[in-house]
Amino acid sequence: MKKIAILEAPFVKEMMATTTNLYRLGWDERNGGNISYLLTEEEVTPFLDVTDSLRTIPMQFDGSGLVGRYFIVTGSGKYFKNVAMAPSENLGILRVTKDGKAVELLWGLDDGGVPTSELPAHFMTHISRLKIDPENRIVMHNHASHLLAMTFTHELDEKKFTRTLWQMCTECLVVFPEGVGIIPWLVPGTNEIGLATAEKMNEFRLVLWPHHGIYGAGRDMDEVFGLIETAEKAAEIYTYVQAQGGVKQTINDEQLSDLAKAFGVTPRLGYLN
Ligand code: 13P
Ligand code: ZN
Repeated sequence: MKKIAILEAPFVKEMMATTTNLYRLGWDERNGGNISYLLTEEEVTPFLDVTDSLRTIPMQFDGSGLVGRYFIVTGSGKYFKNVAMAPSENLGILRVTKDGKAVELLWGLDDGGVPTSELPAHFMTHISRLKIDPENRIVMHNHASHLLAMTFTHELDEKKFTRTLWQMCTECLVVFPEGVGIIPWLVPGTNEIGLATAEKMNEFRLVLWPHHGIYGAGRDMDEVFGLIETAEKAAEIYTYVQAQGGVKQTINDEQLSDLAKAFGVTPRLGYLN
C-alpha cells in the first residue's frame, strides 16, 4: 500500500513544534536537551515500511524491556533550533531489536547521526514509567534555566526542594503532587546516570539533574511540557523572590492541604506538616 509522507505524521509534527517551543524558551541551547516518544506500530505503518531497516545502531545497555518498541527521538549533537527546518536530519524513528542490544533505524538521522547520547536515561525511564503507567509515552530532558540555577542555591533535598516549588505558585502542588526527585551529580550520557534517573522515575515524573537540567515523563507532550513548564515557572518565581529580598509570607501547609483536597490530589506522604 502506498505510504503517506512521513512529514504528515502527527508525531513528527509534534516533535517539530515541541523542539521549536523549547528552543524559544531558552532551555535547549546548542544541542542541549533530548526527547523520546514511544509510538505504536499502528501509528508508524501508514508512513513507513517497518520491514525496511536503514541501519542498526548498537546500545551499550540492556534494552530488553523495550523489545520491538518504536520511538521517535532527537539525534545526538542535534540542535533543537534546527529540527523544524530539517526534521529528517535531526530526528530518528527507531525500533528496539529482538535481543534488546541495539536499535534499527527506520527513518531519519540522514547524515549518519545517532540517537541522543542520553538514550540510556530515556529508555531506562520508559521501562520504569511503563510499569507504573502503561500509557506513558514521552520522556523529555532539557536545561530549564531557573531550575538549573536553583540547584546551585537551594538545598538539594527532595522534600525541601519540592516544598519550595509548591510554595512558589499555587498550581504546583496540583500539577506535581508527588514532588520532584533529585539524583546526585553524575556524568551525562552514562548508564550510571540512566539508572539513577530511572530509579527516581519509579516515584516521580520530574527528576532534577543538579547543575545540568531536568527530566520529565508522562503520557503526552502537553503533560510533560506542562510539568516542566510549571516547575520551571516556580523556579523563576523563586529567583525573583530571592532577588526581591526573600520570603516574607508564603502558602502555608494548611492552605496546601486545602488545595490538595479541593483538586483531589494526594501530596507526597510526609511532605506537608
Ligand atoms: P544529545 O545532543 O546527545 O541529545 O545531548 C544533549 C544533552 O542535553 C546531554 O545531556
Ligand atoms: Zn543535557
